[in-house]
Amino acid sequence: MQLLVTGGAGFIGSNFVRHALNRWPDCRLTVLDKLTYSGNRANLADCEADGRMRFIKGDICDPVAVAGAIRNCSAVINFAAETHVDRSIRDSSDFVRTDIEGTRVLLEAARVNQVERYIQVSTDEVYGEIAHPARSSEHDVLRPRSPYAASKAGGDLMALAYHTTHGVPALIGRASNNFGPYQFPEKLIPLFITNALQEAPLPLYGDGRQERDWLAVEDHCVALSLLLERGEPGQIYNIGTGVERPNIDVAERILNLVGRPPSLIRHVTDRPGHDRRYALSCDKIRALGWSPRQDFDTALAETVQWYRSNDAWWRACRGDEFAAYYAQQYDQRLQDARA
Ligand code: NAD
Ligand code: TYD
Repeated sequence: MQLLVTGGAGFIGSNFVRHALNRWPDCRLTVLDKLTYSGNRANLADCEADGRMRFIKGDICDPVAVAGAIRNCSAVINFAAETHVDRSIRDSSDFVRTDIEGTRVLLEAARVNQVERYIQVSTDEVYGEIAHPARSSEHDVLRPRSPYAASKAGGDLMALAYHTTHGVPALIGRASNNFGPYQFPEKLIPLFITNALQEAPLPLYGDGRQERDWLAVEDHCVALSLLLERGEPGQIYNIGTGVERPNIDVAERILNLVGRPPSLIRHVTDRPGHDRRYALSCDKIRALGWSPRQDFDTALAETVQWYRSNDAWWRACRGDEFAAYYAQQYDQRLQDARA
């Protein structure tokens, strides 16, 4: 299999590249990545020497770059996206550009090149929040509530339209919140781990009782491989563990693992439009033979250990650009929390 992996230098993409090289001895991977603030060639350092992977720096919105990268590929998996809800609240323009228009450019290239599989990597956030005890299933109406979620929903709809109209063998995986190694430290788990390691406060939005289903990235990679091998074009597959946890519980576990006191938690002003709960029903992917293998507590402890052991990696991520972002996003909130 010759596979185009877009966004392969990001968190899930780089974990997927490693997983694919192990899973398919005969594979050839082309990684196309723009290397935005969250894309990092160092995430692929251990794969660079493997002759089966080549890296191209380029934008999925650029039809020429995509045409060059997709040549000879029989399948595409699209991880490339703007991915952080808080950044989408500040400025959604790059989200619309990459997550919708970039997806369209990729689908168009997939059509012209007659690829055999196209996987759109999507999120449970396209369904919007859902109250206890209900769970979102694949045929539910989409009710995205953040600009990030709306842009991902746009990409999903484009993939389905290209399947219906042009016969592109596209299918969609909608996963819950991922965690694990190489996650850029703006998202909850790596932000809280790296803050805790520095004995800095943990800014918990609102009452911290919002719930997410935390999926170990390795389990997500296994599910996506299965979709490449056996998923049905035109179909949507939810991917989650089925267990939701309040953010405050996750924060306390992280502090416990790092060896810091719960007093580092600060309840700060909530995110606007903050989705209270995501929960998925995952019968379709389970029917393909997938189930999550990683235990949450073990995977969280391993993730904490990974950040401890990769101090230089996350400190480089938390450079000047990140410091400016952090100041804008959190300084006032943390000051207000102290008052
Ligand atoms: P990430 O931000 O770590 O990585 C995104 C990657 O895409 C980066 O390497 C970046 O350089 C690249 N990229 C961005 N714009 C690009 C463009 N225009 N052209 C080419 N490359 C570009 O994100 P992630 O957490 O690894 O997410 C990967 C995918 O999985 C996204 O589509 C996201 O919506 C989806 N997803 C993420 C989660 C999660 O919890 N992280 C959960 C469900 C779904
Ligand atoms: P995040 O990792 O940004 O993922 P998403 O918003 O896509 O689910 O956030 C996960 C949860 O953690 C979400 O409920 C928002 C909350 N959160 C905080 O309380 N504080 C923070 O600093 C961040 C980044 C997130």
